[in-house]
Amino acid sequence: MAMLNTEEINHIRSSVNIVDVISTYLPLTQRGKNYFGVCPFHDDHSPSMSVSKDRQIYKCFSCGATGNVFTFLMDYEHITFLEAIKKVADLAGIPIQVGIPTKTQNKNLEVLYEIYDFASKYYQNHIHTSMGKEAKEYLEKRKIDASVIKEFGIGLSPNDNNVLTNLLLEKKYSNKDLIRSGLIAKNEYGLHDIYKNRIMFPLWDLNGNIVGFSGRVFHGEKESKYINTMETEIFHKGDLIYNYHRAKDSARNENTILIMEGFMDVIRASTIGIHNVVAMMGTAVTKNQANLIKRMAKNIILCFDGDEAGAKATYSCGNELLELGITPKVIRLEENLDPDEYIQKYGKERFLEKIQNPINIMDFKLSYLKKNMDLTSSVDLANYVNHSILELSKIEDDVLREISLKKISEESHLEIDFLKERLKQLPKKKVEPKKKEKKVSKNKYELAETYLLFYMLRDVKVIQMYQESGVYFPTEKYRLFGRLISAYYRENESIDVADFISFIEGDEASLSVLKELNALSLKEQFEKEEIEDYIHTLKEQNIDAEIQRLQEKMKQTDNQKEKVTFAQKIVEWNLKKRREEYDK
Ligand code: UTP
Ligand code: MN
Repeated sequence: MAMLNTEEINHIRSSVNIVDVISTYLPLTQRGKNYFGVCPFHDDHSPSMSVSKDRQIYKCFSCGATGNVFTFLMDYEHITFLEAIKKVADLAGIPIQVGIPTKTQNKNLEVLYEIYDFASKYYQNHIHTSMGKEAKEYLEKRKIDASVIKEFGIGLSPNDNNVLTNLLLEKKYSNKDLIRSGLIAKNEYGLHDIYKNRIMFPLWDLNGNIVGFSGRVFHGEKESKYINTMETEIFHKGDLIYNYHRAKDSARNENTILIMEGFMDVIRASTIGIHNVVAMMGTAVTKNQANLIKRMAKNIILCFDGDEAGAKATYSCGNELLELGITPKVIRLEENLDPDEYIQKYGKERFLEKIQNPINIMDFKLSYLKKNMDLTSSVDLANYVNHSILELSKIEDDVLREISLKKISEESHLEIDFLKERLKQLPKKKVEPKKKEKKVSKNKYELAETYLLFYMLRDVKVIQMYQESGVYFPTEKYRLFGRLISAYYRENESIDVADFISFIEGDEASLSVLKELNALSLKEQFEKEEIEDYIHTLKEQNIDAEIQRLQEKMKQTDNQKEKVTFAQKIVEWNLKKRREEYDK
């Protein structure tokens, strides 16, 4: 943290409002003094995270996540404390001079980002040279004009074996780093480029750094159409979503995110002004990706290719989302068209109309199940009913469930009660067990410790009472936490939780105590007597512990004189204890 002192960090933190910052990541609604949203740090779909404008902190009632604006960004964006400070400073328009690595502190990976930046610039440049004529003609034919080429960083890899390799070697990158990058490979003749004469589409990570490419053939489609960068230290296909960093804002504004199959579809959509759209890059959606999508917007619309494969993908992606408690909507395109083709064939207006009228996932599934079935045959009908009931069991939305039950009943002429009964017999939709902290009940001393700490975080008077009492927290983690509050107070002569969180940054043990304290459902106001009670209780414990210690010592020694001294001390402590009890 080298060159920024606590005061500067405070200044940066207090220049933004945590409510504004968090609401750029997830929708928040105001309820009373606080704001609420769906916690992004665990699998959830009810608004269990509260954000306090007064105290500039957030906390989740369900998983216990808590912190200030810095820790939110650290956990959400997977960045370091320094990067979070830098981000907040940028938001607040505060220039900070210290050289903060923006992508990663790991110099080791920085090289890979550099190589990608360089390669991307090179490819983009190359497509505009005379060598790029054919590629540009191809793109033109596909109605991708110069502005789109620029916007999406589209380029061309040279029709040669080692142009990029040589350029990178000239820039003094090591053979090892070239191979690590996934852009260069080694064979018996030495190093060579992996991408040869392909149209290069950069792939970004969630923060918008280029971490891979997809290279498309553009004359003859004999070989594989697209070649994607292999998995590297910075490119994990299952964690990425194409266009995520660009779609984030508009998805939030529209509260809707469109999901497509291919990145060409995304590019096409953007040409008609649809920006809240991402693509899954041709793979089955992973849990990770589904979780990311869930965070982007409340309304999720699957707009996959119109062909059979697209329907299958809709089915499986839909199920992946349903597992997370999201009920997506669906758009099906006619004539087996993909969104790219559809938009080109039917134009903007018709596509917009299409996405404004998505169907619900159950209707999609029902019509998919019905396809190629003859519902007048009892074999097919039974099959259909059984399957649809099974799909219905995955739906959490009870209104949708009821509506769909009615539809199935009408189609099959089976009593709705009978269908309901069938549904009941199926195992309930598997709800992810929430990771609850093991609830070990606290003894009275632990209660006193945590209550005292809770109020110490809220009022300097309580800190002063604690300091004056000289009590000692029996539990080590609370003792350390108490000391930290004291130290913070000595430095700042005040207490501010949001600030205190920066103060204990990186101290996992203290953060978990903080979580624990936040999970206590205590009222914010307190009486002086209550605090005195906690202190008394702890004093009592301190004295008992001391007496016990002396008794141990007395037992252990054979020296009569020492035994007497211990005995006297024990008497004294017992007197103290009486006095304490009397004081109560
Ligand atoms: P599509 O074949 O639907 O791509 O594959 P597309 O968008 O229609 O591409 P064009 O219009 O033919 O250029 C969907 C996605 O699957 C992945 C890509 O990420 C693509 O966007 N894919 C497809 C591959 O990775 N490799 C392939 O060979 C084909
Ligand atoms: Mn296509």
